[in-house]
Amino acid sequence: MRTQIVAGNWKMNKNLEETEALLSELSAKVPDTKAEIIVAPTFVNLATAVRSLQSSVIQVAAQNMHFAENGAFTGEISADMLLNIGVDNVILGHSERRSLFGEEDSLLEKKVNTALARKMRVIFCFGEELEERKNNNHFAVVADQLKNALFHLEASQWRQIVLAYEPVWAIGTGETATPEQAQEMHAFIRKTIGEAYDHELAEKVTILYGGSVKPGNAAEIFAKPDVDGGLIGGASLKCDDFLAIVKAI
Ligand code: PGA
Repeated sequence: MRTQIVAGNWKMNKNLEETEALLSELSAKVPDTKAEIIVAPTFVNLATAVRSLQSSVIQVAAQNMHFAENGAFTGEISADMLLNIGVDNVILGHSERRSLFGEEDSLLEKKVNTALARKMRVIFCFGEELEERKNNNHFAVVADQLKNALFHLEASQWRQIVLAYEPVWAIGTGETATPEQAQEMHAFIRKTIGEAYDHELAEKVTILYGGSVKPGNAAEIFAKPDVDGGLIGGASLKCDDFLAIVKAI
């Protein structure tokens, strides 16, 4: 049985008080589940999140990090800074980082290497844009994103990788991939990993779906055999919506 995860990417939302309020509500109401639950508040509230979730099953992730150990990188955050405050999960390659901040596969490869060397777990995001799907290029795009940033890894390092397939056209748009589209792509991703490594390894990789997952569509998407959970944006900002999605798994 693969690890199932529901992760909330809060993006640039929630100030300190709002973070504390949402976390205490989540901790109080969190259902009993075999799935791992992760939240990714903004950098300035990570230490608070770790502290307030100390006795909770809910884990904390960062939304990004720099690849360098330390140095003259104004505005950036290192792996050691995250580990030092108790954060050992990091989201890398989110489509907003790629499209708004120019992060390319070659940069992501470096970030992945640093995170893995520091024994962090990476939630690696990737997915095609609408134009690429319309041109029937989506499988090739996704295979390239995986190959460029991850296929240099050794098989043993994949234990620290969680994949999050997020078609860009479904992020924050209210338009979700159908459960069939998600399953089709997740099966393709597993097959691609199987060909690059082996079938056994591919079967063990947790692959999340992200893009407008809501309480109303989560169960259908999570029911697909190759979908192991979700990366949730908008709906992770409301306690009841996020926990309804957790329950759907
Ligand atoms: P969304 O965001 O759920 O608001 O579409 C998902 C994501 O960006 O990870």
